[in-house]
Amino acid sequence: MDMSEARMSPERNLALELVRTTEAAAMAGARLLGRGDKLAADQAAVDAMRHVLNGVEMYGTVIIGEGEKDEAPMLYNGEVVGTGEPPHCDIAVDPIDGTTLTAEGRAGAIAVIAASAAGTMYNPGSAVYMEKIAVGPSGAGIVDIRLPVKRNITALAKAKQVEVSDITVVVLDRPRHTELIGEIRDAGARIRLIPDGDVAGAIACAMPNSGVDILLGIGGTPEGVITAAALKCMGGDLQGRLWPRDDEEREVLLGEGKDPTQILGLDDLIATENCFFAATGITTGDLMRGVTYTPGGITTHSMVTRGRSGTVRMIEAHHQSAKLKKIAPIGYT
Ligand code: FBP
Repeated sequence: MDMSEARMSPERNLALELVRTTEAAAMAGARLLGRGDKLAADQAAVDAMRHVLNGVEMYGTVIIGEGEKDEAPMLYNGEVVGTGEPPHCDIAVDPIDGTTLTAEGRAGAIAVIAASAAGTMYNPGSAVYMEKIAVGPSGAGIVDIRLPVKRNITALAKAKQVEVSDITVVVLDRPRHTELIGEIRDAGARIRLIPDGDVAGAIACAMPNSGVDILLGIGGTPEGVITAAALKCMGGDLQGRLWPRDDEEREVLLGEGKDPTQILGLDDLIATENCFFAATGITTGDLMRGVTYTPGGITTHSMVTRGRSGTVRMIEAHHQSAKLKKIAPIGYT
């Protein structure tokens, strides 16, 4: 493995460096808050993230980026990022998870990045959607995506030593979840419907006192892999199953060697403990606060974690606009 012991001493926490990329993306995206232009916000965040990413000492290959090279001039799948020196690693980026949230000034948008030893990150290929179940450490080994919703919620409540009616389930607010929502209500649990942003929604389930316990439902496959990196670090759990929308999508997946019936566990999505995750809030949500402004400054709130130690750090950073402008002319000040 390229990201070997020799090259990657346990003392180096890549996530502490990668967090600068999510801070940059969040600050750039937040400048376009509420402007109604999600493409502009996304582009600003992509540009800012890439600018900082290329200063990080690593040979990173983007496995999950902004799409194919021709459509995405930056952070495209397969792009090599970083300084080009070891460690070799796989990279997943989502400079804004919640582009619509950002464009509309709504809660819960974050900038995220994940890294893992080269060759260990699941490549979603053309798999757009994935059915997911995600929990924090108290639910790891307890829930099973194959079981009925009620059984999972009941088992989680027991493991957390609370009543079923104390459990709050995060669900993306989509028509495809009508039946799921009915099953959760029948089970007697509470529901937190989110308009977008299931990465933050899932990770919040692994944070103490976030007010949410389990994420259920169908969301993006790339977002599922990124979430898996975070939950692997934090000791939570995520199981996924690809969700082709029609026969044509199913055929394409089968052609890529992907089995839509396979249960993808944390080890399938991120096949190493040698992984890192960083996220910065763009708008305030269940997981963390968004970008705020002070006279001459910008405040960001981030979380950083790595697989080998499991340590989760919450970082509040105070950036000086005038100084940043001189060293990083990328439009986030
Ligand atoms: P974007 O920021 O790329 O728009 O993604 C937001 C998001 O809500 C993800 O968090 C989620 O996984 C996915 O979209 C769900 O897809 P859809 O909006 O098509 O249901």
